Amino acid sequence: MKKYKIKLYPLGKELEVNENTPLTDVLHEYGVEFPCAGKGTCGNCKVKVLSGSIELSDNHKQKVEKLGLEDNRRLACLSSCTDDVTLEVDQFAHIILADETEFEFTAQKGFGVAVDLGTTTVVAQLIDLSTGEVVAVETLLNPQVRFGSDLISRVQASLDGNAQEMTKLIRESIGSMIELMLEKHPAEPDKVVIVGNTAMQLIFADCDATPLAAYPFHIDDLSKKTFDANELGWNFNTNNKVEFHSSIGSFVGSDILAGIAATGLHRKEKYTALIDLGTNGEIVVGNKDQIVCASTAAGPAFEGANISMGMRATTGAISSLSFENGEMKAEVIGNSKPKGICGSALIDAIAILHKKELIGMFGEIASGEESIKLAGKVSLNQKDINEFLLAKAAIAAGLDILASNLSIELEDINEVYIAGGFGNYINIENVVSTGMIETEGEKIHKMGNTALIGAKMLLFKDADFTKTILQKTKHINLEGDPNFQDIYVNKMMLL
Ligand code: FES
Repeated sequence: MKKYKIKLYPLGKELEVNENTPLTDVLHEYGVEFPCAGKGTCGNCKVKVLSGSIELSDNHKQKVEKLGLEDNRRLACLSSCTDDVTLEVDQFAHIILADETEFEFTAQKGFGVAVDLGTTTVVAQLIDLSTGEVVAVETLLNPQVRFGSDLISRVQASLDGNAQEMTKLIRESIGSMIELMLEKHPAEPDKVVIVGNTAMQLIFADCDATPLAAYPFHIDDLSKKTFDANELGWNFNTNNKVEFHSSIGSFVGSDILAGIAATGLHRKEKYTALIDLGTNGEIVVGNKDQIVCASTAAGPAFEGANISMGMRATTGAISSLSFENGEMKAEVIGNSKPKGICGSALIDAIAILHKKELIGMFGEIASGEESIKLAGKVSLNQKDINEFLLAKAAIAAGLDILASNLSIELEDINEVYIAGGFGNYINIENVVSTGMIETEGEKIHKMGNTALIGAKMLLFKDADFTKTILQKTKHINLEGDPNFQDIYVNKMMLL
């Protein structure tokens, strides 16, 4: 297969990709968001073609004209790689990727670093605080994955005596990522803000994460942790302390706190939900007066784990499925042969199979066979379908119980924001038809990496900002609700 080179400005990144690889696949890794989910209507994913060319389909041309873009501008969500290109990514020039009108961005002197420390991926961005511009980006696979891919295996690794090693690894890695960015843009960072789930915070801060291994999962101190750069072993100074923001609950971390900031949920009149569909599904519902949040035992199905042919959203993963002309049609990341299926396509598969009556309301395979072929050699078996039903029921039940805690109905929730690694790829219609989120599709918006967006916002905010959010946010233990089991079992059905 033909390969093309892509250069990204202002990051100075150069990569090689397969012919016809969608630009969404390429840019998503660098934290670029696709707010209208690739419909070509918002214009937020626009890029300037500095050299080479990007072909314009009729639809793409119409959208470019409608948005009044200059000749050398393209919408990344409608573009594929068919030439060596140099692109200036517009979004890196803007700190605020959502809710632009309400976020007061006050220019400051100097540079800041925002870090989203995920269980799987770490993303760091260097921000010019005077313009809000992203001037460098680094992404890395969390080096702790050698101790297990999910959060629980990291906690287990802590119990097994590997806590200090994991602390050392992650501190070194984030330090190196920042150094790499500073090599490109020599500066002394004024601020470093890190957000992540509670386990990541505890391990980074060298605090005991082992209570997360067993009931009642109680952590005494969830507060913000601050450090001097040299205490972290970093080879550069920061003018202010490095901050790892407060967690909200044992399984609801500062990544969700940042998500609340990014969506502006805490300022909304109407009830709004934020759902992070990661390994551990976190759900927030609230408005300007009160916010409740919880983590669900959604399981790792959405990240491809526990699914026989499941994989993360990387090259070779089926990222979406549709049923056209009597057969399944698969989109594969990196435009290569399908090797497995990631969370977004798993949702599509279940929605399609149920619609076509190939699986019943309990997910049972109608033909009685062991598995159902999807595309190429990729198939789903009964256990995979059951795993999905457990995950979707956990989200649906969580949302239901949080709404009850606020004494509201699900229909009172005005908007639902979806965050998380594969959020950009999910098909909202299919999410709704599986019953995972019981609301109308028009109310659901994809927001991409809200943790990173929020971390960038926190660079510009003082301590009172997060304090206000934390004061009105209550953490709910879903399993503690007397109706949880009944609701959960009920939500497992496909209707
Ligand atoms: S135009 Fe909205 S994501 Fe591309």
